[in-house]
Amino acid sequence: MDQARRGALRLIGGLGAAAALGRAAGQTGKIMSRKIPSTGEELPAIGLGTWQVFDAGEDASARAPLREVIANFSKAGGKLIDSSPMYGSAESVAGDLVAELGLRARLFIATKVWTRGCDDGIREMERSFQRLRVKQMDLMQVHNLLDVDVHTRTLLDWKSKSRIRYLGITHYTASAHAEVERQLKKQKYDFLQINYSLAEQAAENRLLPYCLENKIAVIANRPFAEGAMFERVRGKPLPSWAAEIGAASWAQYFLKWIVGHPAITCAIPGTGKPEHIADNVAAGFGALPDGKMRLRMARYFDSL
Ligand SMILES: NC(=O)c1ccc[n+]([C@@H]2O[C@H](COP(=O)([O-])OP(=O)(O)OC[C@H]3O[C@@H](n4cnc5c(N)ncnc54)[C@H](OP(=O)(O)O)[C@@H]3O)[C@@H](O)[C@H]2O)c1
Repeated sequence: MDQARRGALRLIGGLGAAAALGRAAGQTGKIMSRKIPSTGEELPAIGLGTWQVFDAGEDASARAPLREVIANFSKAGGKLIDSSPMYGSAESVAGDLVAELGLRARLFIATKVWTRGCDDGIREMERSFQRLRVKQMDLMQVHNLLDVDVHTRTLLDWKSKSRIRYLGITHYTASAHAEVERQLKKQKYDFLQINYSLAEQAAENRLLPYCLENKIAVIANRPFAEGAMFERVRGKPLPSWAAEIGAASWAQYFLKWIVGHPAITCAIPGTGKPEHIADNVAAGFGALPDGKMRLRMARYFDSL
């Protein structure tokens, strides 16, 4: 962290001003990006998840803060928004808001297919294109490996016709990691989306090294273990040395630890709150922990 940011941080005095820090970071630098290994395209390392938090239906008052979340996310340089037909109205809500804000061209829209059968898969994905209001999907993923071989065939065809730009698979639990690894060995995917956080570290045993070696981008889902990690640190101060990597809040501590792993392309915290998106994208600025620091961070978290 540079001198100016350290000074600003001291002045601001901790977490309450995470939003201000995000703005400051946004003004002075560019959000950190990682290359998608299959193409070399740059993708900002902090994305936005929509599970639960974007299931707002048609309710205008519930949509208002979500519009602000997307606007601020994009303003700070964020790009990847992840959704799924499994997430209630989230695809429609995100699609409508992105269209209203005129941000489609600046974002990287990812969703999933979550059904059985080729025809049902095609129907569901066509609906996702409409709901998200995109002509071309940046990333289509097979959700939780459901009927994965069938949908992969469709997606390879769609990729060859440029209906989608990238294809991937997802899962969210360590008990599925072996199956995920088998699938990655069967078929070359551009992306793996998998659970990875200080509370759920199992992906780094085999999946992350495999992806690094085989040039597969990795999206870390559940970066806060669905929010449970905040319960664990509630009322506990950050260690003073968190300032060395510019982590001014627990969210930034958690996210910087994730994107500090060389296999990780992007972490996608879910939030529906403008103050939380400012906090989260701030993790995409400043220093990242090296291996030694990541170990120290993990030990400290384990001790709480
Ligand atoms: N199988 C799959 O493909 C799969 C499975 C799970 C998740 N996902 C994807 O991954 C995304 C992330 O996972 P997740 O949503 O389950 O869990 P998560 O991102 O680990 O945690 C989300 C929770 O953290 C809270 N939060 C976010 N930022 C915060 C901050 N700065 N300070 C305090 N609280 C904060 C959110 O509430 P607020 O609204 O109050 O901020 C929400 O309750 C999902 O949205 C989804 O897109 C995919």
